[in-house]
Amino acid sequence: MLNIVVLVSGGGTNLQALIDAQSRGELGGGRIAAVVSSREGVYALERARQAGIPAHVLPRKQYGSAEAYSRALEDLLAPLNPGLLVYAGFLTILDEAFCQKYENRMLNIHPSLIPAFCGRGMYGLRVHEAVLRYGVKVTGATVHFVTGEPDGGPIVLQKAVDVLPGDTPESLQKRVMEQCEHLLLPQAVALFCQNRLSVDGRKVTIL
Ligand code: GRF
Repeated sequence: MLNIVVLVSGGGTNLQALIDAQSRGELGGGRIAAVVSSREGVYALERARQAGIPAHVLPRKQYGSAEAYSRALEDLLAPLNPGLLVYAGFLTILDEAFCQKYENRMLNIHPSLIPAFCGRGMYGLRVHEAVLRYGVKVTGATVHFVTGEPDGGPIVLQKAVDVLPGDTPESLQKRVMEQCEHLLLPQAVALFCQNRLSVDGRKVTIL
């Protein structure tokens, strides 16, 4: 049984999608062993509690640097023996050493079609505001492996939706979450747990 640790920082709707997929037996045999939040009091922690999943809080604000936070997170994760880390609305940058330690064993969900509207500072509603400002006709979500470059890792899955007339950042975020993110992340986790993702440089092949 592959241990999955889900990293969160906010509302946890992507965590909830993983919890629901697990309850349907659709996580490819993986088990959500724990949730770790970089912020206190976020609703993702309540979702973990309601699902009976052990949750830990490692507040980013208590650490002076990404390096110090990354070491503390490594120490917290070690006894959990994670086979896969899933960033589900996790907003904390971890250092290069951490990313190398977990190379090709960390997945992130980003609410755009990478390489568009991504990178440092592009998260949450900011992404959808930028999409509307630019005037693109489609957007969507991407699951990718995490590397030291924010949103720059090899792409695993993507799904597009139309940008509709009258869309606001909030209506667009809702559509991307419901029609893209919450479907893609469990699918990608299940493929990983079934050992069906083959990574060669930037190219990810689904076996
Ligand atoms: C989502 O848009 C996700 O793509 C991004 O963070 C936002 C909040 O996610 N990474 P959640 O509701 O906390 O899962």
